[in-house]
Amino acid sequence: MRHKSSFKILKLTLKNTNNKILKSIYNIVVDENYLAIISLLNLKSFKRLLLQIIKSNKIFLFVIKDKEKIVGYSIYSDKPSQIFEDANNLKFIIIINLLIKFKFITILNLIIKFLHIDKVLFSKDKKKFYNKTLNLSYLAIHKKYQSKGIGKYFVKETLKRLKEDYNKKIVTVDTKDPNTKNFYLNKCKFSLLGEKIELFKSTSVFYKKI
Ligand SMILES: CC(C)(COP(=O)(O)OP(=O)(O)OC[C@H]1O[C@@H](n2cnc3c(N)ncnc32)[C@H](O)[C@@H]1OP(=O)(O)O)[C@@H](O)C(=O)NCCC(=O)NCCS
Repeated sequence: MRHKSSFKILKLTLKNTNNKILKSIYNIVVDENYLAIISLLNLKSFKRLLLQIIKSNKIFLFVIKDKEKIVGYSIYSDKPSQIFEDANNLKFIIIINLLIKFKFITILNLIIKFLHIDKVLFSKDKKKFYNKTLNLSYLAIHKKYQSKGIGKYFVKETLKRLKEDYNKKIVTVDTKDPNTKNFYLNKCKFSLLGEKIELFKSTSVFYKKI
């Protein structure tokens, strides 16, 4: 395996982004983040969402490249609810997509989130802490490149940049998947903050001082 530093990490801006890049990210999302709400969007809506994210000064979209090929992406938001606050005009499209695809549990989970029931097990201080942290909202590495240490390197390097360039100090991440929990705890050295309530799997929230 080549040294990780031969992979280039880029923060996307309107200047350095093109259609091909947006399409590559979409393909990774559909293949790897198929449980995430954004994977339900069609390519056109997805590109709109990514362009909104790139324009926002509160959301940070990074890609990791092997030469010219995009092999992973990550999205960090200034606070956990930022993406859906910024993507207000796409909320309707998302809900329609969920209904068409009979994703009733996801809709119930969105309602639970909207009513803040998901964090009832958090103390007041924990809730306040969580709501103010930088949130790693989406992350994926292309299947062919997984389990080679690229995910760990990508998280480490992007957090370094967010600290140096944007003065970010604490990052949180939510996940339901046991393998992913293992990745954050054991590979990236996050710690457990608490458990969120969702149907029908508990979601762990991890945090790390950057
Ligand atoms: C989680 C993920 C980003 C890690 O990237 P990576 O390049 O495989 O990470 P590393 O090589 O640094 O670490 C590998 C560890 O990640 C975990 N992992 C590996 N493949 C995984 C997968 N498909 N899904 C979840 N976790 C995985 C394992 O703990 C693995 O440890 P091992 O190689 O000792 O078995 C990547 O596997 C992925 O894109 N998974 C699917 C999407 C996902 O779960 N995203 C996170 C949502 S919050």
